[in-house]
Amino acid sequence: MRIVMIGSGYVGLVSGACLADFGHHITCVDKSAAKIDALEAGEVPIFEPGLDTIIEHNRSSGRLDFSRDLAPAVAEADVVFIAVGTPSRRGDGHADLTYVYAAAREIAAAVTGFTVVVTKSTVPVGTGDEIERIFREEFPDKEIAVVSNPEFLREGAAITDFKRPDRIVIGTEDPRAMEVMREVYRPLYLNEAPLYFCERRTSELIKYAANAFLAMKITFINEIADLCEQIGADVQKVAKGIGMDKRIGDKFLHAGPGYGGSCFPKDTLALVKTAQDYDSPVRLIETTVAINDNRKRAMGRKVIAACDGSVRGKKIAVLGLTFKPNTDDMRDAPSITIVQALLDGGATVHVYDPEGMDAAKDLLGPVTYGSDPYEIAEGADALVLVTEWDQFRALDFKRLKGLVRTPVLVDLRNIYPTAEVVRHGFSYFAVGKKS
Ligand code: UGA
Repeated sequence: MRIVMIGSGYVGLVSGACLADFGHHITCVDKSAAKIDALEAGEVPIFEPGLDTIIEHNRSSGRLDFSRDLAPAVAEADVVFIAVGTPSRRGDGHADLTYVYAAAREIAAAVTGFTVVVTKSTVPVGTGDEIERIFREEFPDKEIAVVSNPEFLREGAAITDFKRPDRIVIGTEDPRAMEVMREVYRPLYLNEAPLYFCERRTSELIKYAANAFLAMKITFINEIADLCEQIGADVQKVAKGIGMDKRIGDKFLHAGPGYGGSCFPKDTLALVKTAQDYDSPVRLIETTVAINDNRKRAMGRKVIAACDGSVRGKKIAVLGLTFKPNTDDMRDAPSITIVQALLDGGATVHVYDPEGMDAAKDLLGPVTYGSDPYEIAEGADALVLVTEWDQFRALDFKRLKGLVRTPVLVDLRNIYPTAEVVRHGFSYFAVGKKS
């Protein structure tokens, strides 16, 4: 099959590379000359484990190419995926669909013969209908089916998520489009990944509802964590105890500094706005958004409390900046708010992250960037672990104890057993456990 991916950002690149790996011919299109030049020179503009190898392998076997020219690629395509960005619109929190509609019009102008146009970007309910209306009214001679096919990839685990998905949701009732989509994903459902067909609007909502539910689950356990600290219970054990109930499930019950990233904050907000527009408010999600925003600030206060109530004139070492490990993505990362709170409190802040420091430079205030955890720990009054990178999981506490000024560890991801840290003479402050 010939497939075109419009937008060579995170979703477009991962999906394009994985579909090429399954034997389709893929052209990834992007308007950014710099991005396409870099990709053609073999550089992958994002950090995602395993992606560079797949891209390289499929480029050299001729199944994957890159282009700035949408029209020639689309003219030959059986399927065109729209994977452009849908950022939060400034001011009102709605998803900004400018790029989606612009891409749709360009695609329609270029297609020849029956073509399936698929929205892979996260788009609000009704976007597929609007694209269809544009096609019908502005391009009445073209034969195009509009399908919704949301993606459920997690950054850092995107290749596995793509190749071994829990489900593939496909929103269309057009039998010809269904056949084409079956063909696109045939290599995957041979791996027993279930294809789930439903109406287009339902499919669009599934994406938002899934992300909102996961955001709510995290927020729930974060509030239980706060309660645990007050009443002397252990949130990790509570999470385990409730997660063993299959109706609840044990995933996404890790208490932490609040969710971040390019998806949950944006998608929860967009769902809230859509629901308000339809006069059918989703109050649980409204509350989730508010609690999560507060939580990031509260984590700053937690660090200050661990430093005896003040960080003025103290040196704080922050380990991990990205919104989660195995990514260089800093969007809506809790570290941004936490670092700001520490700077506001008069601290000197030294930071280290394995992949996120370039992106962090535009987002953090006047902090000092170090080259490993030990360098930033020198003379520190507290170590604050914000992102659970593997390399922070076996810190040499003996060495750290010799470096810091005050042995305090605030572990916002609960990656250490209390006893191990305390044994090395550190005061240990975790999330949802009595310190
Ligand atoms: C999320 C969803 O998990 C994907 O299914 C979805 O495709 C993607 O959004 C998207 O819409 O594109 P992602 O944002 O990459 O994926 O990251 P997650 O692994 O879901 O983590 C999101 C945030 O929640 C992170 O800040 C993470 O640290 C936090 N989190 C996650 C917790 O605090 N506790 C948990 O138990 C799980």
